[in-house]
Amino acid sequence: MAEDLIISTGTKEEKYRDLLPQITGLLEGEDDLIANLANISGALKEQFNWLWVGFYLVKKDELVLGPFQGPVACTRIKKGRGVCGSSWARATSLIVADVAEFPGHIGCSSASRSEIVVPIIRNGEVVAVLDADSEFLDSYDLTDQQYLEEIVKLLKF
Ligand code: SME
Repeated sequence: MAEDLIISTGTKEEKYRDLLPQITGLLEGEDDLIANLANISGALKEQFNWLWVGFYLVKKDELVLGPFQGPVACTRIKKGRGVCGSSWARATSLIVADVAEFPGHIGCSSASRSEIVVPIIRNGEVVAVLDADSEFLDSYDLTDQQYLEEIVKLLKF
């Protein structure tokens, strides 16, 4: 696999629809988790140019920073803390239109204005979260949630 990603210029929905088979292709025949998390982060960053996108992995009682694209980030987040820790604790996706309004939001980057976090659940347990941050307010909606949940389903943990 060495092709370039084809970047879509359509609507958000079209961007995801064009990206999904390409991510499926990137993951095909590769069972290394870190490699796959890294390529998903890269593909999402290239297509959407969000401020930050990447993964936190559940390790013992905290989330630990995994592969990502964007500015340097906090390395460890406790369960229930910030948007990522809340998504883990509630085992549900969270869309935050304005991070300033989210109690306990962890501002890894002061440029971040809105955020979506999608938990990755295997055998009933959250094993990681996908976090995307935007420098614009209200960047994420149910379309993002639906497709990002679809994308993380492709991962083998
Ligand atoms: N803002 C996140 C922390 C992770 S960074 O933004 C990459 C939160 O409140 O969970």
